[in-house]
Amino acid sequence: MKNVAIICGGVSSEHEISCISAGSVIKAIDKTKFNPILIGITKSGSWRLLPTETDFAISGRGTNAKLPEVADSADASNQVSWNRDGAFVNGKNLKIDIAFPILHGPFGEDGTIQGLFEMWALPYVGSKVLASAVCMDKSFAKPIFAAHGIKVVPGIVTTTTDVELPSNLNFPLFVKPARGGSSRGTIKVKTESQLKPAIIEAQKYDQKVLIEQAITATEVECAILQSGGKYFVSNPGQIKLADKYEFYDFEAKYLDDSMELIVPAEIPDSARTEIKSLALRAFQAADCAGLARIDFFYSDKGEIFINEINTMPGFTPTSVYPKLMQDAGINYSELITKLLLG
Ligand SMILES: Nc1ncnc2c1ncn2[C@@H]1O[C@H](COP(=O)(O)OP(=O)(O)O)[C@@H](O)[C@H]1O
Ligand SMILES: [Mg+2]
Repeated sequence: MKNVAIICGGVSSEHEISCISAGSVIKAIDKTKFNPILIGITKSGSWRLLPTETDFAISGRGTNAKLPEVADSADASNQVSWNRDGAFVNGKNLKIDIAFPILHGPFGEDGTIQGLFEMWALPYVGSKVLASAVCMDKSFAKPIFAAHGIKVVPGIVTTTTDVELPSNLNFPLFVKPARGGSSRGTIKVKTESQLKPAIIEAQKYDQKVLIEQAITATEVECAILQSGGKYFVSNPGQIKLADKYEFYDFEAKYLDDSMELIVPAEIPDSARTEIKSLALRAFQAADCAGLARIDFFYSDKGEIFINEINTMPGFTPTSVYPKLMQDAGINYSELITKLLLG
């Protein structure tokens, strides 16, 4: 029996999404093999040992939906502290055998917590320090993909609001934080006058901002699982949004059931094969491990651009990554087992 620390919440803007994923993992984890220990990180960064039956369900739909979060109680008895030797509650070592950091965004998916696990010599699910950091920061990931012959969307990086657009960038553009996620701070900009406000908005999430050409495209995502020395590369799935959405924004991602995942994506066979091979190339180029979701644009001109790699993709049973794995014949519980056994 392995003690598995399922770590969720965190200080990033994706706190709530992480809780939803962790709640599902706790329910589905094979309890004949693993003993789950639930650790929630509050929005202010304090670590809490939580009952495994904590309810992390989403309630309501649409913009009125209430998302779960790790409560910041005054109760000190469940406070987790850590030092060089690991994690403790009331001075007692939690004796974690493996960590599953179901954390998205900065301080969870960006190599920082992975560095902490390295200090503890603790095995953990997913990409190591460097790959996590590179994939988190789109301004670093894109040149790596490009160097491996994978096309990226033309764009520039800025840390200030005064930008001079190069001649190859034409409206509409996308403005987004370099280290963001869940589409928070991502804005489609149609005119010059919208540019500065969009940069200011994106900078709420990261001082460093990407300005990219808006691509008219089908969004296609591919899941990779690395287990038992093998790679499982899913069929590309197509993100089909309800007409009211101009792009795959936060609401379309989480607050609405209308997104339809079409597997395999309705694009030519040759493009599907190409995307699978590019997904694996990107995974290896960024030195990813365990799991990743690799997102592409298939443009209306038939070009394939990589958009980003998510090293800890959304992980509820209805999230894209587990659905793509399900299509590849690996069900949710089995997927968790494979990730934990490596
Ligand atoms: N250059 C672009 N062209 C077209 N759509 C884009 C572009 N960049 C981002 N988007 C849209 O915004 C969404 C979120 O952007 P993305 O770069 O994936 O950030 P996040 O890490 O928040 O998911 C994408 O899924 C897509 O719908
Ligand atoms: Mg994305």
